[in-house]
Amino acid sequence: MRILLGVSGGVAAYKAVLLLRLLREQGHRVRVVPTASALRFVGAPTFEALSGEKVSTEVFDDVPQVAHVALGQGADLVIVAPATADLLARAAAGRADDLLTSTLLTVHCPVVMAPAMHTEMWQHPATVANVATLRSRGVHVIEPASGRLTGKDTGPGRLPEPEDIARLALEVAGRAGARGAPQDLAGLHVVVSAGGTREPIDPVRFIGNLSSGRQGVALARAAQDRGARVTLVAANLTEPLDGIEDVVRVGSTAELRDAVRAAAPGADVVVMTAAVADFRPARTPGAKIKKVPGQGPAPIELVENPDILAELARERLRPGQVVVGFAAETGDETGDVLHHGRAKARRKGADLLVINPVGGGRGFGTDSNEVTIVDAQGETVAQAAGSKREVADAVWDAVLKLSPPLAATTD
Ligand code: CTP
Repeated sequence: MRILLGVSGGVAAYKAVLLLRLLREQGHRVRVVPTASALRFVGAPTFEALSGEKVSTEVFDDVPQVAHVALGQGADLVIVAPATADLLARAAAGRADDLLTSTLLTVHCPVVMAPAMHTEMWQHPATVANVATLRSRGVHVIEPASGRLTGKDTGPGRLPEPEDIARLALEVAGRAGARGAPQDLAGLHVVVSAGGTREPIDPVRFIGNLSSGRQGVALARAAQDRGARVTLVAANLTEPLDGIEDVVRVGSTAELRDAVRAAAPGADVVVMTAAVADFRPARTPGAKIKKVPGQGPAPIELVENPDILAELARERLRPGQVVVGFAAETGDETGDVLHHGRAKARRKGADLLVINPVGGGRGFGTDSNEVTIVDAQGETVAQAAGSKREVADAVWDAVLKLSPPLAATTD
């Protein structure tokens, strides 16, 4: 693979040397493009000797070759490590004030940036906004590691180890090559619940619903293709789940709630696609309920289940987490589908609610869907119709467009 390794000016630039050696050992062709300040930390001869390629920092170095265009278009993968706060800011602003930033404007291949800076700089709203901008354009910004920084201080901001950067970057390149999807959810962890819960009446019977879970699975696959780390909480799914990295299988609402709440503190986004039973039998006998001939059915007493979505929206198990709900509506004499959906959005407090009409052959168990996405006030932010994958992509687009912008928080 032809890799362009951008290096910006931070103490962690020494680790770029190790990354370069590793990538060369794996048989990749690497061209290093440092910024001028990177060369204050590591000399050009080191990069030239290890890469076997010329090193330049300025657009004016190779004028006849139009270096920034040639480099950008000739690369299969760009890795910027370390990416300083300044480099992130310049890249986010689309500046072209040296060879590296000019090249970043000409590339068509996946771009992976590994930030390294002090915790305060990483958490500063300016950097958070720059990272969000870059991610929204498909740049894969890796979460920095937590630990000892340059001085005596510790916290998130450390450059991840060269082995980890290489592995992640090559994974991104592999995925993009395989699927051609933009990597605009890269660096984010998302939890998606899918399917329908079953509330046991006795050991052989349950109260369930018609949800196939296809829309939730499409959301999980779309997120994974777009670079996110995905946890799928699968309630009674029969859909094939091959290739989805982290699947937690559950049956009842109580199990679904436990699984979602266990994963949520590590998640940037939680999407509740699952059709959750509102009520469960108050008691579940250990033995099968028998029919007594001549006697009518024994009544089943029901109790209310907790509203998992409303809890997540209220508690925000991770600061800044985006919570998305679904509302399958039919409309009735008191109002149409959108009327009920908008009221539900205001009631639940989720950041986005995806309203879809069901019944009459629509929604459940079909391969297509039509949705209106509303915000917490019930205002329409997007509409989508098409395959469940197309609807899934529209939901992720809406998540990325949220204001304030979604920014991956550090573990
Ligand atoms: N939901 C949940 N926990 C529940 C019920 C629903 O988390 N106990 C979530 C669903 O996963 C979905 C959203 O809430 O994201 C809306 O589900 P829905 O069944 O339409 O909402 P209800 O509050 O049950 O409203 P309704 O009276 O229309 O059934």
